[in-house]
Amino acid sequence: MQFDIFTLFPEMFDGVFSHSIIRRAQEMGAAEIALHNIRDYARDKHHMTDDTPYGGGGGMVMKPDPIFYAVEGVLGLDVPPAGYTTDGTAERPPIILLSPQGRVFNQKIAQELTQYPRLMFICGRYEGVDERVVQYLATDQISIGDYVLSGGEIAAMAIVDALIRLIPGVLGDPNGAANDSHATGLLEYPHYTRPPEFRGHGVPDILLSGHHAKVAEWRRQQALLRTLKHRPDMLATAPLTDADRKFLAENQNTDDTDITDFHG
Ligand code: ADE
Repeated sequence: MQFDIFTLFPEMFDGVFSHSIIRRAQEMGAAEIALHNIRDYARDKHHMTDDTPYGGGGGMVMKPDPIFYAVEGVLGLDVPPAGYTTDGTAERPPIILLSPQGRVFNQKIAQELTQYPRLMFICGRYEGVDERVVQYLATDQISIGDYVLSGGEIAAMAIVDALIRLIPGVLGDPNGAANDSHATGLLEYPHYTRPPEFRGHGVPDILLSGHHAKVAEWRRQQALLRTLKHRPDMLATAPLTDADRKFLAENQNTDDTDITDFHG
């Protein structure tokens, strides 16, 4: 999967993109990330990328022209966009503007975006981005939550990370992402590893039993309890079996932390 990121601060990505899973995905050839400095595409003498807002008011607005030139330059297009495809053979990839005004990112949107072989992200800064970028260049706007960041860079990192872990083969465990919180529509069950006892706190017996079916049942029930406790809103849309519903009805008042002993 190919990612093009348009930013005024490409160095911000260095640390995040050169470690752990994202690094491995690039080394494997599963992900290719290109950082493009919008300033390099400003055509005036001073390489200006922002200016004062028409109509007055404080703050600065990112100019449209360097952003258009950057995206078009990378796409190999000289002509301004108008819902174009280049020549009908190479379709324009989604051009996503990171913005607190966008649709709020979640696992479903992550799944949707991994269907594309290539994605472009525009990171806004300052007070905002000239509206013509929103209207005539970006094909989508995404927010990573209802709060305002200083720019789209951290949002782009979060989204690229969430997408890369969904690319088949990137996680060491082939089912690695399948049980993730949100992937199943529920929060994920709790994890334990050695030591079996730490400061007097043990591990649920069932996990040491070697009984795979019982472990799977316990994990499902824990996922249900956690979701009920922390994110009850998710239960409205989670795909639930009759057994799940029965369990939830019987355990409306059970705290997930109570169930370390299993009586399945
Ligand atoms: N830029 C500023 N705030 C943002 C947010 N919440 N999500 C995406 N981009 C942003």
